[in-house]
Amino acid sequence: MRIDVVSIFPAFFDALEVSLLGRARGSGILDIRVHDLREWTHDRHRTVDDTPYGGGAGMVMKPEPWGEALDAIAAEAARPPVFVFPSPAGEVFRQSTARELALEPHLVFGCGRYEGIDERVFEYAAERGTVRLVSLGDYVLNGGEVAAMAMIEAIGRLVPGVVGNPESLVEESHEDGLLEYPSYTKPSEWRGRAVPPVLLSGNHGAVAQWRRAQQLERTRSRRPDLLPPAERGE
Ligand code: ADE
Repeated sequence: MRIDVVSIFPAFFDALEVSLLGRARGSGILDIRVHDLREWTHDRHRTVDDTPYGGGAGMVMKPEPWGEALDAIAAEAARPPVFVFPSPAGEVFRQSTARELALEPHLVFGCGRYEGIDERVFEYAAERGTVRLVSLGDYVLNGGEVAAMAMIEAIGRLVPGVVGNPESLVEESHEDGLLEYPSYTKPSEWRGRAVPPVLLSGNHGAVAQWRRAQQLERTRSRRPDLLPPAERGE
């Protein structure tokens, strides 16, 4: 999978060199290229923002550098990419979003700062690929970089070969719509706390049943919004 990232703070993405994603980049499974938006400015101050038409607080990212950035990236693309713009005004990013995007051969993340990007940039990008505005959640970050990092990790780990044991992707929070069951490892007793005896029983059926009950209980108490209406006990 190819991922291009456009940002005025490329250093945010240095962390993509470590851990599983770093290894996947090294082996060529993930081709991630980070670009500085200011490369596509032409004035002495390398300006990327200006005041909003209609007035109001803050600054808006100018369309011209974005247009050149998208042109340069699209020119290299074999097929129209999916442009992902992290934005608190977008659809919420979920595990299902990560699964969908992990199937794409080419993603382009456009990281806005300030009050956002001139709206015409999204229209322009929509003529060159698919555009998705995606929010990490109902809170405001200073820009799209941290959100893009989170999304790239969530998507990247679903690309075949990135996570060594694909089985470990199956029994996770959100994969089956419920939160994950609690995990324990050795020692069986630690600081007076014992591991639930069923996990030491060797009875696989009983273990599976206990884990399922734990998933439901956790989801009911922490995230009742995830349960199907029949399970909510309302
Ligand atoms: N940019 C600023 N806040 C954001 C959020 N919650 N999600 C994605 N991008 C953002």
